[in-house]
Amino acid sequence: MSAQIKSRKRVADFGEVYTAQKQVNDMLALLPDDMPLESTYLEPACGNGNFLAAILKKKLSKALLMGENIDRLFVIAVSSIYGVDIQEDNVLESRNRMLHIMTQAYKSHIGMEMPSCVVNAVSSILKQNIICGNTLTAESADGQPLTFCEWEIKDSGYVICKEYHFSDLIEANGECNKYISKHRYSWLVDERIKVA
Ligand SMILES: C[S@@+](CC[C@H](N)C(=O)[O-])C[C@H]1O[C@@H](n2cnc3c(N)ncnc32)[C@H](O)[C@@H]1O
Repeated sequence: MSAQIKSRKRVADFGEVYTAQKQVNDMLALLPDDMPLESTYLEPACGNGNFLAAILKKKLSKALLMGENIDRLFVIAVSSIYGVDIQEDNVLESRNRMLHIMTQAYKSHIGMEMPSCVVNAVSSILKQNIICGNTLTAESADGQPLTFCEWEIKDSGYVICKEYHFSDLIEANGECNKYISKHRYSWLVDERIKVA
């Protein structure tokens, strides 16, 4: 069983008590089995990624059943999972944990290492989707607005990324067209092209 606390100080300062795996599993069981691969999830106090990891595993199982173009399906699966935590070490642990789950799933189900272009794409997405900040103020520790990207993973290997301020997403409470930048880039050749 993994520890639910790291220190008494962190419990006192940040209310940090990780959710036990059984409770995570019970809550995940409430999600529909036929949830779309693209369903978006945000964990506003993600800790070391207990819920993020469980959602990712569920999505990867679905991707593996869908079969075709598994590289793209894996990228889609991770691109719609978002997390924020106020402590940097939790953010790094969550990202590493997610990447590890993906590379392990790829290896055990596909029978080969995940290609480096997919590892790079996943790492880049994790860096932008799981971020350090204060969810209550929607700001980072140095007072910058928290931003999230909405990803569109094209068949061709291109990715469109629209970047939003988290505060605008909260305010819109649904459809939000107020993106602050839009980029298109390829995860096959590491090419980044600004399109708006
Ligand atoms: C009770 S733990 C839950 C962690 C994780 N969700 C889980 O279930 O295992 C609360 C987490 O919220 C983080 N946290 C506390 N205040 C926060 C804030 N204002 N913004 C973002 N994260 C915060 C803490 O660092 C801690 O990791």
